[in-house]
Amino acid sequence: MITIPQIQKKKKVGEKISMLTAYDAPFASIFDEAGVDILLVGDSLGRVVQGHENTLPVTLEQMIYHTQCVGRGTKHALIVSDMPFLSYQVSSEQAIQNTGRILKETPARAVKLEGGRELEGTVRTLTQIGIPVMGHIGLQPQSIHTLGTYKMQGKTIPQAEALKETALLLQAAGCFSLVLECVTAETAEEITKALEIPTIGIGAGPHCDGQVLVLHDMLGLLPEARLKHAKIYTHLYPMISQAAKEYVSEVQSGKFPSEEQTTHRISPLEEIAVRKI
Ligand code: KIV
Repeated sequence: MITIPQIQKKKKVGEKISMLTAYDAPFASIFDEAGVDILLVGDSLGRVVQGHENTLPVTLEQMIYHTQCVGRGTKHALIVSDMPFLSYQVSSEQAIQNTGRILKETPARAVKLEGGRELEGTVRTLTQIGIPVMGHIGLQPQSIHTLGTYKMQGKTIPQAEALKETALLLQAAGCFSLVLECVTAETAEEITKALEIPTIGIGAGPHCDGQVLVLHDMLGLLPEARLKHAKIYTHLYPMISQAAKEYVSEVQSGKFPSEEQTTHRISPLEEIAVRKI
């Protein structure tokens, strides 16, 4: 299993970090075998798996369940589990209880918390008692109702400065790495240079220490491309749709199952022969 110090060392030696989201064992296993460094069980599952409009309805129990599923498919990658909305913001005590449950009940070795300077105390408390925290600044999808839309952050110099200050603060509080979501390339580059801990970008340009994509975006599992920054490496939606259509048509026409997929009852003579073996 890849460890947190190994992830941090990658920044020091100039090796890029690859992170993908995963929510179940089969995809975790494919990504793990492909050499992905970190599997993030993202609360993005609220949108891409559960079909909600945003990530707010996701519960701690659901994160625990999906992280356990990912664990069964993972041999090497570091598993990081997202803390869902209102599972850590209420108080440091609540954050200890709930992040502790993730570490005790799942194979995750770290948690990810969305938020800025308001989390300084919580991050300090968690990291001091041995709960590794990945921070997440820039676009924070759990704040969608405040933001109105999922838009780029850190576009102006004052905004960029504020983000850099927050990043330094979270590093000082103990975060072992930081996700920068939908931040301009220039801002992400400045933050990455200012920090000792690795930055992992999504929609944050090429200068971060690592990159993360949501699996449904990178595999083209959604009918249409959602986001400018999300490169589609293969477009599975039309392939799966075509396969399902063929299946429906073959069931209707009787072509499936064919002889190849059918097992027949054995004759009495064959039964005797089988018993002798
Ligand atoms: O929930 C998620 O998948 C995330 C990534 C987009 C970084 O937070």
